[in-house]
Amino acid sequence: MDGSRSTPFTSRVGVEVPLICGAMYPCSNPELIAAVSAAGGIGIVQPLSMIYVHGCELREGLRKIREITDRPIGFNAIVEKSVKAYEDRMRRWVDVALEEGVRFFITALGNPRWVVDAVHAAGGIVYHDVTERRWAEKALASGVDGLICVNERAGGHAGERSAAALYEELADLDVPLICAGGIGDPQTFAQVLGLGYAGAQVGTRFIATSECHAHDEYKQAIVDAAEDDIVLTVKLSGVPVSVINTPFVQRVGTDAGPIARRLLRWRRTKHWMRSFYALRALRQLKHASLEGSAYRDYWQAGKSVAGVERVRPAAEIVQSFAEAWRASR
Ligand SMILES: Cc1cc2nc3c(=O)[nH]c(=O)nc-3n(C[C@H](O)[C@H](O)[C@H](O)COP(=O)(O)O)c2cc1C
Repeated sequence: MDGSRSTPFTSRVGVEVPLICGAMYPCSNPELIAAVSAAGGIGIVQPLSMIYVHGCELREGLRKIREITDRPIGFNAIVEKSVKAYEDRMRRWVDVALEEGVRFFITALGNPRWVVDAVHAAGGIVYHDVTERRWAEKALASGVDGLICVNERAGGHAGERSAAALYEELADLDVPLICAGGIGDPQTFAQVLGLGYAGAQVGTRFIATSECHAHDEYKQAIVDAAEDDIVLTVKLSGVPVSVINTPFVQRVGTDAGPIARRLLRWRRTKHWMRSFYALRALRQLKHASLEGSAYRDYWQAGKSVAGVERVRPAAEIVQSFAEAWRASR
């Protein structure tokens, strides 16, 4: 592969193509992560997905990836503090990832300080998910090395700004910026790098790959969906998540309902309600991804579905994105 082009992200992380296969609960399985890294991008481990969906203890899953490739991989640490048992577990998982040689971490949601301290001590780097300048400044004050800029077109929890507006808002912060959201085809990848981003994080496109263990119906729904078929629902987890507007979603609706809304707002019940929603969402998403519509067609995806024309091997996606980027000089 032609390594003559680099960005502040590729040179620091040690990869050839500035393309991250983002963490995806429940779609990140070891084979998908390994395939993206082996092809010159970087796959990110989502620990809950690895353990609870794909049945690999974390260390075992990391070693499974290592049997396929020795290229860099990353680790997604959601630093949400509201559930103490979860936080303790995440601290142990970060230690295991470091022991197994992972040196690139992507944090999301809370204060990334403790991850930064542990990862920097081991010579690694941490990027944090942000949707606006306020969170970017907080994350930088905690010592992160780069930012994943989640825009309004992202799958999972979307941001509010366009890719271009978010770049403008954060460009002077002087750390590598990664564009996350809406990138489903090689031309869009080249375009966001042309805006000045040091790399791109892609989720939805990598679900429709031969290595992803999502059900074939889920992959086909991504191939068939148009941008208008993506809707935001708060029914799943209490916060807006983008999903395909399948018959199931149409039937149950996308609102939380008046009682749930009140419990989510009320100080005393807010945390309990969020935990309840989170656990229920994890279970529903797992079964929907693995069992397809035999369970229910509850499938997360972003507006980048528009660029997904068929199920392909992950390496072909990395190569086609890399070619478009190199041709765009
Ligand atoms: C099915 C799905 C699950 C996701 N789960 C996570 C997650 O567990 N942690 C996280 O930080 N981001 C998660 N994301 C966000 C992705 O890592 C990535 O930023 C996003 O998918 C980029 O937008 P795109 O889908 O348009 O490519 C998820 C996205 C999708 C589509």
